[in-house]
Order: sequence, then structure tokens, then C-alpha cells
Amino acid sequence: MNPTISPLSCCLSYGSGVITYVHDTTELKPHDDNCRNNTFERNTKFGCVGKRVCELRVMFGVMTDLGDFTSELDDDSTGEDTDTTVSESAETRETATATDEPDETDDTFDSYEATPAGSDRGLGVLSAASGLQISEDEDETRLRAYVTANNRSQIRIGSYLLASYPDGERLFCRISGLEYSQEYRADDATEIHARRAMRSAGIDEEDFKLMATLDPVAVLYEDDGELKRRMTDRVPKPETVVRQAERKADIKTGLKMPEDGVFLGHLAVGGQKVRTAAEPPTIDYRLKDDYTAGDPLVFRHTLIAGGTGSGKTHGAKNILRQYLDEDRTYPVESGADRDISPAVVQFDPQDEYAQMHDDGEYDPEFGRRLDAEGVAHGGHDDTTVFVPKVGSATYSASHHRAEQVEFTIPFGMVHDNPWLIAGSGLNDNQYSALVTVLLPRFRSQYGDEGTYEQFRSFLDDPALREELDESGKVHEATFDAVARRARGFDAVFDADARPITERIHEFVRPGGLTVVPTYHIAESRHAETIVLALSSLLVDEKLSNDPTYERIKETPLIVGMDEAHNFLTDADTVQAQRVIGKFTEAAKQGRKERLGLFLITQDPQDIADPVFKQINTTIVLNLGDEDAISAVNIPSNLESKVPYMEKGQMVVYSPDNSEPVELIGLPHCLTRHGRD
Ligand SMILES: Nc1ncnc2c1ncn2[C@@H]1O[C@H](COP(=O)(O)OP(=O)(O)O)[C@@H](O)[C@H]1O
Ligand SMILES: [Mg+2]
Repeated sequence: MNPTISPLSCCLSYGSGVITYVHDTTELKPHDDNCRNNTFERNTKFGCVGKRVCELRVMFGVMTDLGDFTSELDDDSTGEDTDTTVSESAETRETATATDEPDETDDTFDSYEATPAGSDRGLGVLSAASGLQISEDEDETRLRAYVTANNRSQIRIGSYLLASYPDGERLFCRISGLEYSQEYRADDATEIHARRAMRSAGIDEEDFKLMATLDPVAVLYEDDGELKRRMTDRVPKPETVVRQAERKADIKTGLKMPEDGVFLGHLAVGGQKVRTAAEPPTIDYRLKDDYTAGDPLVFRHTLIAGGTGSGKTHGAKNILRQYLDEDRTYPVESGADRDISPAVVQFDPQDEYAQMHDDGEYDPEFGRRLDAEGVAHGGHDDTTVFVPKVGSATYSASHHRAEQVEFTIPFGMVHDNPWLIAGSGLNDNQYSALVTVLLPRFRSQYGDEGTYEQFRSFLDDPALREELDESGKVHEATFDAVARRARGFDAVFDADARPITERIHEFVRPGGLTVVPTYHIAESRHAETIVLALSSLLVDEKLSNDPTYERIKETPLIVGMDEAHNFLTDADTVQAQRVIGKFTEAAKQGRKERLGLFLITQDPQDIADPVFKQINTTIVLNLGDEDAISAVNIPSNLESKVPYMEKGQMVVYSPDNSEPVELIGLPHCLTRHGRD
């Protein structure tokens, strides 16, 4: 499309959409009032006429409204003119900037005042220009706001906004997209545009629209003086002012964040804490921990996923410390009057959690702020390290001051969990021989107390091998395979320490933290067997209708597992299947039995799906690996943040607790963490 105008007194150049009006100085003639009257408001930009260049940027749509000015224009403008004047324009502009100081005697124009009377509230207004629609179908929802020029630099994706309805209800929404578009149709991919931009210090915001796409989260309304939320079931009016949500109550209600519960961190957007006018200005995020609406979420299981060094252990300690707060108790059973503190048993491959016995490193002022916010902190006295005695391995405890006790796994525990010695190598047939023939036979000969050493010599007996083969119970080859597999656990079972089964009351203590370090164990297969033996014991007792250890059954229990992917993998082996089956069942029964799994991993993709599906609260710290990111299965708006998050930044996806949110964890570990 060609513009139909060309100035009489000068030559006109245009790119598609921008008209540069270049005066010939000799014929310079000031614009008259018509040029500056309403017709040109918003659409006209006057350069300094006193200089050699005067620019008019005119939107095509209003050209026919040029009025008096149009009549002065003739129609002779051609493409060739354009080219020459483009360069002239550029040159003259250059000289103008270089040499011309504003000159008192120059003709000047009054500056155009675009600001309407009154003072602005909010960030902008909802626009109906490309539809304003709230729909049950998310894809059809269209909610866009025009952001005014002076608000643009501060606006961020993820920020929370409010738009009021005429009756006082408010729409709480989140910015999900930001888009600049042109106010005036113009091709800015042109030489002149680019070069002009390269010489200027910035854009004129008013030449552009900044549109914010909003994701409606909830309608906020008052009910009997109480602020409540409901689904977004109405559309706000066009031109409704949108404001940043700044009141704590609005944000908490809008995001469905519980007022009480276990502290996880402070609400954030784009790595910045959300601030309000309240004191403290930050917004605490808590995980529901009572029975008022559903079950405490800890018994519906938690996963902390993050890359190495992302802050998993720091974060996990801070959260576990909350569960160990002396004020935290759960009813013994639903509706019971008697409350009991939870026990935490933490499996610890890197030997980091025993330090929870000792105080964190932060100044008293930080401690006072924690107290004021109701965050438990400081070393937890009732911390015991249960050191597995394995062969000649020695455990070094120079980095903490927690009490240590040694224990061993009695071979008798294998009767309930034969897969412990199946490792990864037995096929179904072999496993069946172990479970239905060999172990029962051993038990009948040696009783429940039969040791691993005795089992070894039992399997070394050629007469037994022959007898079982001849009776058709166990084929020789099968017998050999089982015997081979079952070897190599000398270090694990019946070592020179008290069996764990005799220390259950020390192992599971209401209000106590038990840490099981495995770093000192050289062979990973041994460490794995110990962790699985203990965790299975806990889980079995919790699920049993006829528990051997009432203590385990009745104590609310949090089983923490760092590097959980090593223990709960999905593999095609007898052992993996049994473990996964057991933990899946445990996870399902967790709410009822007050058993919470607290899994920590850098490889969430390696945790078996059936267990994963039972996890209600997922906390994700920085993760770089794509497979890992997609495995944690969080909403896409959170997912995209994950690779960019700094230490301590996290996203929390806990659908029964709140809307998905971003948080910043505490900058200090509430107990000791790290070695000098
Ligand atoms: N929120 C945080 N603020 C400050 N430092 C942190 C934060 N989270 C972790 N760190 C520090 O970063 C380091 C690595 O954290 P850590 O929890 O041990 O990582 P991971 O267990 O994920 O490998 C530690 O020194 C820890 O104290
Ligand atoms: Mg760690």
C-alpha cells in the first residue's frame, strides 16, 4: 500500500508505515494548529522543526483524517524519493544531533501531553480488543491487559494480579505471557528503522503496546467477612483496572495457601520474594499438617528433586526439622484424644543428616525472625545415629556430636523378606525355590535364629542338593544358582553388634530423629540391602494387622530416603518388584497408618512409577537434565523455570495444598549442614 500523501513543501519518504516528513529548510514552514489538534493526537510525533528534519509518524489508518494538512500534500511521492530522502534523513539527523543545541530562536512546537487527567491506579486495564473470555475450557480463555508505559519495566511473568468486578468480587490471576506489539502499524524491519534505533537511547514506549496475557486463578469474594475463593466463573468488564496483588490475605487465598502447617519457604516470582505491605512483608508457604481438611500432607508423601548441589539436603533438613518440632504431634488414631510426636528415620548415603543434632550457623537476629514466623530451628537433641556394622568398615563421626549406636541385621529378617538375598540375579523359578523350599527347610532346621553363616553351610551341603534334585523339588542347576546368589552377604548379616530387632524402641522414638548412614559401607550392594531391610521392616510393621513391634505400628513415622533412586528403581528383577510393590502399598496406606515417605533424589526419572504416582507433594530445585525435569511431572509453567533456578529456589507442586507456586527456601540451614 502506498500512502496517498506527500507534502507540498517538502519531500516525503516512507517505509511501509512510517512516514518521515523531511522539510527542505528553505521552505520550512511551521505546522499550524491543525497539525496538532485532535486528529494527530496519539498518532503524531513532531521532531524539532527548527532542525532540518521534521518527522511525522502517521498511522495509515488515520491518514484520511489528516484534514487541512492533507490538503497541502500532493500525490507525487514515488519510491525513488523514498530512497534518497531516507539517506538524507539519516544524515541530517546525524548532523542535527551532533551540532544543534536547542536554539531559543528556533520554531518549536508545544509538547504534546498524552497523560489523561487524574492519577493512574494499577498496572493497566483489561482489553477486549482481541476477546475477553473466561471459559471452562482453558484453551478458550482469553484475558489480556494493556500495561501502561510507566509500569512496563517492573512487570514480570508469574506475577499475581487482581481485577475487580463491579460488585467488589475480584479476579485473581497470574501473568502467563507478555507481548509487545506495535501501536501503529509499521514495518520496523527496515534499514531506516534499524539505524534510527541503533542511534537512539531507547524506544518510545507509547509507540508500542505491552499486552499481558493473564491466567485466571480464582475469584476472590467475601463471605460473612471471610475472604474466600472459588473457580473463575465470571468475566471482568473490559477496561477493568488490573493491579498487582499486594495484600497477603489476597495472595494466600488466591493461591489456596494454608495459613498453618509446615514451613517450606517464602513465595517468590522469578527468583524474587513476593513482598507485601505487611510485617514481615514476605509470604510464608506452609504444607497442611492437620486433619481439618483431609490428612496431614506428610502422610501423603513428599519428593524433593534437584541436581547435585541444588540444595536438596539443605532443604530437606530444614523441612524435617519442622516435623521434629516439639509442638508437632498427631493423634494416635483418627479422632483419638492422645497425640503423639512423629519419629523420623532418615537413610543417609552421604552421611549428612546426623548433623541435625547440632545447631545451624546463623546469627541470633535470624533466629529471632524464625521464631517470629513460627519456624522451628536449631539442632535437634534427640538425634541418634544408627550405624550399620558391616565387616570391618569403620564409621567416622568427627562432623557431628550425635549419639551413635551400632546394630546389625539378623539373618532371621530374611524369612519375611527373602528378596533381600536374591539381589538382582534370580529368575522367578530360582526365587520360588528359595522362598518355598530352601528358606522354609532352613528355618525348620535352625529356627528363627538361624544365622547367615549357618545358612551358608546349609547351602554348601551336597547331600541336600542331591536330595532336593532327586525328589524333584529343586533342580541341581537351580540350587546352584540360588547358592551362588545368596553368597557374599557375610558382611551384612549377623555382624558383631546388637540386632536391630532388639533395638526397635531406640530405633523408632516419638519426637526422635534416627539417622542411618551408609557412606562408610564400601559395597553398594551391602548398603542397599541394609537400607531395604530396615525400610521394609518399618513398612511391614506399619501395614501389618498383627505387628510384631507395636512401637512402629503406633508411632507416626516419616521415612526419609536420600538418593532414593538407588533403592526404589523400577527394574525387571525379583528384588525391585518386591520393593516397589511394598513401597507402593505402603504409600497407599500411608494416610491411614501415619506413614510418610520423604524421598530425595537427583534422578527422579529412576524412581519407579507406581511409587511416584503416590507422591502428593513434589518440591523441585534446580534440575538440568531434561528427562529428570519431565519425570517430576509438574505443570509446564513451573517446569520451564526449573533449569534456571538458583540455589534455594524451588517450585512446589502439591495440588491438595495450594496452587503450584515458586518459593525461596531459607538462606541458612536450620541445623548444621556442611563440613569445614
Ligand atoms: N537456600 C540456600 N541458600 C544458601 N545456600 C544454600 C541453600 N541451599 C543450599 N545451599 C548450600 O549449597 C550447598 C549445596 O547444598 P546441598 O543441600 O548440600 O546440595 P545437594 O544435597 O542438592 O547436593 C551447601 O553448602 C548448602 O548449604
Ligand atoms: Mg545432598
